Amino acid sequence: MTENKNLNTLAESYNTDKLEHGYIKIYEKYFESIRNENLKILEIGIADGKSLLMWSDYFKNSTVIGIDIHKIDIKEKKLDRHNIKVHQGSQSDDKFINEIIKEYGNFDIVIDDGSHLRKDVIKSFHLLFPHLNNDGLYVVEDMQTSYNHFFGGNPFDLKYSNSHMNFFKHLTDRLNYQEIANPFYISNKYDAKITNVSFYHNLVFVRKGVNDKLSKEVINHSYENMKFNEKSSRTRNSFKYYLKYKVFYKIYTFFFMIFTMIKRLLLLRF
Ligand SMILES: C[S@@+](CC[C@H](N)C(=O)[O-])C[C@H]1O[C@@H](n2cnc3c(N)ncnc32)[C@H](O)[C@@H]1O
Repeated sequence: MTENKNLNTLAESYNTDKLEHGYIKIYEKYFESIRNENLKILEIGIADGKSLLMWSDYFKNSTVIGIDIHKIDIKEKKLDRHNIKVHQGSQSDDKFINEIIKEYGNFDIVIDDGSHLRKDVIKSFHLLFPHLNNDGLYVVEDMQTSYNHFFGGNPFDLKYSNSHMNFFKHLTDRLNYQEIANPFYISNKYDAKITNVSFYHNLVFVRKGVNDKLSKEVINHSYENMKFNEKSSRTRNSFKYYLKYKVFYKIYTFFFMIFTMIKRLLLLRF
């Protein structure tokens, strides 16, 4: 019987390299309380099927779907279990991923252990994150590839390159989109949809959820409007506050924005 085995024991018995990467302890922290639920779990990258077998034992009431660009011999890898499904295709092929979504519906957990190439990691996130259930987790393994130009990363420009690590770092701005005091703010498709982004050594977790709390600092991305409303509500004579917040501070914000845009242009930061 495998039902009482913890993830570490299962990882050892299937000899998955997630153990030596140090991922198992972290996964257990996230998954222990939900292991008996009926979930839909998608793992990108099957290889020998070790992790699929581990997930299949650990999440015994769930369906574990594995996809791989290469043909996987289910019999040879002993993946012919009732709660394992295997499909061949690329993680960045829109048509293939949409067929998977059509077949299984939304997922509760997606683990990207596929090519680890920048283009594939980001494309899969765009394709699959919208089909994650609320409170679901999107996990990307082996993020060390982001520091390696052979995987589309960039070891020479850690801050501004369009590496996959920077893609996930920037999702933290989506967590706080309400607070961005830019009156010209253009909303992003992940605003209001992310409740947590956690980084571990080589591993990223993104939690989906409703994040629609209003800011206490800005109103419609404007600090000036918030301040004007706050101050003028306390007085009959709001003209002074109008001049201060709606005119003077707005002009200041506008020039600060223009200055920042010119700086970005000169530094070729788009
Ligand atoms: C690191 S292995 C997966 C290991 C497995 N998850 C485990 O822990 O036992 C990576 C797998 O991703 C597959 N792969 C590479 N590029 C892919 C792509 N574009 N789409 C889907 N799978 C891909 C490879 O064929 C390989 O089997």
